[in-house]
Amino acid sequence: MRNRMSFLAFALLFVLGCTPFAGAQQSSGSTAGHAWWQHAVIYEVYPRSFDDSNGDGIGDLNGITSKLDYLQDLGVDAIWITPCFPSPQVDFGYDVSDYVSIDPMYGTLGNFDRLVAEAKKRNIRVILDFVVNHTSDQHPWFLDSKSSRTSTHRDWYIWRDGKGTGQPPNNWLSTFGLSAWKYDPTTKQYYYHYFYPEQPDLNWRNPGVEKAMFDVTRFWFKRGVAGFRLDAVDTLFEDPNLTDNPVLPGKDKFGRPNMEEKYDKKLPEMHVELQRLRKVADEYDAVLIGETWTSNVAQLEEYYGNNGNELQLPMDLMLTDLPLSAPVFREHVKAVDSARGWPTYVITNHDIQRSYSRYADGVHNDDIAKMMAGFYMTLRGTSIMYYGEEIGMENNDPKRKEDVKDPIGILGWPLEKGRDGERTPMQWNGSANAGFTTGKPWLPVPASAKTHNVEAESGNPSSVLSFYKQVIHLRKTEPALLDGAYVPLNETDPNMISYLRKSKEGAVLVVLNFSGKPQSATFDLSKQGFAGAKVKALLQNAVNVPDGALQNVKLDAYGVYIGSVSH
Ligand code: NOJ
Ligand code: CA
Repeated sequence: MRNRMSFLAFALLFVLGCTPFAGAQQSSGSTAGHAWWQHAVIYEVYPRSFDDSNGDGIGDLNGITSKLDYLQDLGVDAIWITPCFPSPQVDFGYDVSDYVSIDPMYGTLGNFDRLVAEAKKRNIRVILDFVVNHTSDQHPWFLDSKSSRTSTHRDWYIWRDGKGTGQPPNNWLSTFGLSAWKYDPTTKQYYYHYFYPEQPDLNWRNPGVEKAMFDVTRFWFKRGVAGFRLDAVDTLFEDPNLTDNPVLPGKDKFGRPNMEEKYDKKLPEMHVELQRLRKVADEYDAVLIGETWTSNVAQLEEYYGNNGNELQLPMDLMLTDLPLSAPVFREHVKAVDSARGWPTYVITNHDIQRSYSRYADGVHNDDIAKMMAGFYMTLRGTSIMYYGEEIGMENNDPKRKEDVKDPIGILGWPLEKGRDGERTPMQWNGSANAGFTTGKPWLPVPASAKTHNVEAESGNPSSVLSFYKQVIHLRKTEPALLDGAYVPLNETDPNMISYLRKSKEGAVLVVLNFSGKPQSATFDLSKQGFAGAKVKALLQNAVNVPDGALQNVKLDAYGVYIGSVSH
C-alpha cells in the first residue's frame, strides 16, 4: 500500500500519445490537448453508504442519482462506483456473482441507465469497479468449476492437489488472514484465493476467462460507462509452479509469519494482460484506473506500460501512507511528477483510514483537511477523492468486536479492526443518521456528523466543503492549474511546500504550511521568468497574505495560500 513519479518533455510526449475521450458523452480537452480524465476530479462513491432512497439502511443507485446536483455543484467530473453487482456481500460487493447486472439491494439495470443518463446531463461520467482477480464462490462459473474435475469451468480457477493430508499446495497466504488455499471435499483438491475463501481467484491463463471478462467490459461500455477502476490488479497472476514465498522474520497482524509476496503478486504476465485489456478499452475511448499498490515510483511507472499502452491512471496510493511532513511529501510529488505517465493522486479510499482522521492533531483538523485539499487539487494530475472527504468526515471505527461488519476486523480484532470506520454513511445533514436513511443505517454515523455535514457546511463560507468547492473551481478555471508544469520552489524549506503551476498563460503559486506553527517564506521567481513578480490571492485559509510582493509570506499553522502570479 504505497507509492511515486516526472518530466515535462517526457510527460508531454506521453500525453500526446494518449487518445482523448471522444465517446458519446461530455466534451473534454484543454489547450494542451489533454483528455478529459487528465483534469478530472473523480469522486469515489461507496454505494452502500452514499444515500438510501428506500429506507432499508443501505445506499442504492436511486440514492446516488438523487445527489447528482450536489456532485455537480461540488465540481465532480466523474463518479467511480465501487461494486454494485449481484453479490453475497461477503466482501461488500468485491465478491461478484454476476458481472452484468445490478444487485437488487442497489436497484435495477433500469435504475443504472437512469443514473448514467442523469449524470450525463450534468457532465458527470460514470466509472465502474471491475473485480478482475476473483469472483464470488457463488458465481455460476465457480459453482460449475467446483462441481467436478472435468467441468467446463474447472480450469477457470486455480485448483491443485495438496502436499499431503491437510497440507495445502504451498505456503501462500491470503491477505485477509489464514492460508490462501481452501480444500474442497467434492473434488478433493484445493482452490486458491488471495482474498477471502469466498473470493476464488480466476485463472487468467485460461483464454476463456479473458474472453468472458473482456466481454463484461464491453457490456458496460455499451451502456455508457466511461471506464473502470481495476480492483487488485497486482494479484492477477501467480507462479504456475507454486513456488513457496520466502518467509521473513516477525509476524503479521493476523499472527502469521511475515512473507515476501514474491510468487503470488506483480508477475510480469499481469502487464501483458493489462495491455490486452487496454486495447478493449480503447475501442470505446474508455479510461482505466488501477488499484496499484506499489513500493516505489519505478513500480508505479510500469503500470503506464511502454508508450502508455497499459493504464491511463494507475493510482498513486503511496501518497496515502506518508507522514505529514513537507520534505517527505515534496520529495514524493517531485518523483511522481517526473515519472513517465500522468499522475493520479489519491489521499484516501474505502480500504484505508480517512485522511481527516489520519492527519488530525485535535486542534487544526479542519485546517489540515483544507490544506490537503489545496495540495492534491492543485497538483499536475488527476485527483480521485473519496465521498465525505469534502466535508471532513472522520473514521468511525467500531468500539466492540461484536459491532464489526468487515470480516477482516472480525478475524483480526483487536489489532485489525477492519474497514467499517471509513465506510460509514455520508453525512447529509444534522438529523438522525445524518439524513442518509429513514431506516437503521448499516453502519453508525459518528457524533461529528452534527457539525460536519453537507447542509451545515453549505451555509458556512469557511467550512471544509466551501474550501473544496472553491479549490475545485480554481482547478477548472485557472489555465496554469489545468495545463501548467509543476515547478517546486524553496526545496529546502523543512515546513512548507511551495510550487508554481506554470503555463504559457501565466502561473499560480501554491504555498502549504505542513506544520502546526506559523511559518513564512520568501520567493524569488526570477529563474522562473517572473522577476519582480506580484501575487494576487485566489484562495487562502489560515493565512492573510496581502496582495503584492513575494517577501515574507506568512502562513498560520496548516495554512494554504493559492495566488496568481503576474509581472
Ligand atoms: C481491493 C478493494 O478495494 C477491497 O475493498 C477489496 O476487499 C479487495 N480489493 C478484494 O477485492
Ligand atoms: Ca436502500
